[in-house]
Amino acid sequence: MTENSTVKLGVLISGTGSNLQAIIDAILRGALKAEIRLVISNRPDAQGLERARRHGIETAVIEHRKFASREDFDRAILAALRDRSVELVALAGFMRLLSPVMLDAFPTRIMNIHNSLLPSFPGIHGPKDAIEYGVKIAGCTVFFVTPGVDVGPVIVQAAVPVLADDDEQRLAARILQQEHRIFPHAISLFQQGRLEIAGRRVIIKGDSSTPNSSPLVNPPVD
Ligand code: GRF
Repeated sequence: MTENSTVKLGVLISGTGSNLQAIIDAILRGALKAEIRLVISNRPDAQGLERARRHGIETAVIEHRKFASREDFDRAILAALRDRSVELVALAGFMRLLSPVMLDAFPTRIMNIHNSLLPSFPGIHGPKDAIEYGVKIAGCTVFFVTPGVDVGPVIVQAAVPVLADDDEQRLAARILQQEHRIFPHAISLFQQGRLEIAGRRVIIKGDSSTPNSSPLVNPPVD
C-alpha cells in the first residue's frame, strides 16, 4: 500500500457492529482511505448488517452452522472476499476462530480488535477478567491474526483506567470508545504502508516517539 491508495476492506462481524460503524464513520469523514467491499456476518440477525446496508455496503450472511467443518466455512468466506478483490480483512466482533484456510490466504492481512491489553485477558471476557484480577489499567488491542486465540503481533493499543466503582458493563463501554478510535487508526496505518513486521513486533514506520511518550498509547486518530 502507498499513501494515496485506497485499501479494499472486507469486514467480518457477528453482532452489534459498532466497530464496523467506527470504520464507516472514519471513511466518511476522510480519516481513512478505505472502501468496504463486503461485510460478512456468520449470524443472520447481526445488527451490524443493518448498519452496512444503511450505507449502501454489500452484505453477505455465511452461517457457520451450515458447514460441515471450520475449513469449509472459511472457504466460503474466502471465496466471497476474493470475488471482491479484498486486500485487508477486519474482524470487528467476529466470534469465530479462523482456520489456516483463511490465515494462509491473508498472511498479516487480517486484523482483529480485542477488549483487553493483550497478552493479558484473552478470550471473550476481557473487561470482566480485568476487574476481577484487579488491574488499574485496562484497554484494547488491535493485532494481526495468527493461529491461536488473541496471540498475534500487536499493532496498536489504547489504555483505559479501571475506576473504583466499575462493573463489567461500564468498563466495557469505555473500552469500546477507545476501540472505535484505534481500529480505524490501525487500518489507516496499513493503508499508508506504514506497518512492518519484525518477528512478533509491528514496527510503525515514521513513528519516532519514545515508548514512554508514545502517542500510540492513546493515539490521535485524525
Ligand atoms: C468488541 O468489544 C470487541 O473488542 C470484541 O467484540 C466486541 C464487538 O463489538 N471482539 P461490536 O460488534 O463492534 O459493537
